[in-house]
Amino acid sequence: MALFKKKQVQELSIEDIQLPEHIGIIMDGNGRWAKKRGLPRSAGHTAGAQTFRKIARYCSDIGIKYLTVYAFSTENWRRPSDEVDALMRLFKDYLQEAIRDFKDDSIVLKFIGDRSAFSPELLSLMNENEEESCDRDGMVLNIAMNYGGRAELVTAIREMANEVKDGSLSPEDISEELVSQHLYTKGQPDPDLIIRPSGENRTSNFLLWQSAYAEYVIMDVLWPDFTKEDLNQALIEFAKRNRRFGGV
Ligand code: FPP
Repeated sequence: MALFKKKQVQELSIEDIQLPEHIGIIMDGNGRWAKKRGLPRSAGHTAGAQTFRKIARYCSDIGIKYLTVYAFSTENWRRPSDEVDALMRLFKDYLQEAIRDFKDDSIVLKFIGDRSAFSPELLSLMNENEEESCDRDGMVLNIAMNYGGRAELVTAIREMANEVKDGSLSPEDISEELVSQHLYTKGQPDPDLIIRPSGENRTSNFLLWQSAYAEYVIMDVLWPDFTKEDLNQALIEFAKRNRRFGGV
């Protein structure tokens, strides 16, 4: 994956291009942003949360149908406990406001990942947000929390194995479509574009199955500094790519 250079794409604007239906964002670089300013890492996450709100609303405003953001991975529990605690507090504060925050934008909130590790308080906020927003007709915003692409596949395989065991599924009927239906993102289109700010060239276990044909745009900006213009640049870069889905 090559680092995308901003100056390559300045001649188009987003009104001229076909937008992706589903965007994934790996919100990376909060820690480095804080370090550069001599602040604790948690301050980077707080700034990252503000960027997340701004970019989510902007995606909804320009007509993106699905946005998936990577907020906390299955591996992030390995971070120092004060950082994990700060992130959990941030999620809780955010979810307390989210129901009202996105109401006027008609955003539908969903959480993808293994919920069993979260506190009962956070869990009930997640459920409340999903229930309150499920009848809206705007952009679907998937927040990946305690999410890992491998863990998601293990869960799907286990579910299908149980269905085979109880006789409701025959092994010959296991198809790519059926696997997709056992993922957290069931019923949603695969991401067309995955944006990774902060310059790292890794998938980091994000939407492993779903991103098989996604275009990656890696950008040299830390997530808290990410702007609407950066998103526009990524969209324009995406529009210039020639997606062949394995064909010619
Ligand atoms: C990765 O940057 C970022 C995270 C592990 C947390 C992402 C969370 C937010 C942006 C908070 C907002 C989310 C919601 C839903 C309110 P990093 O800490 O690995 O950065 P580094 O690579 O520079 O250390």
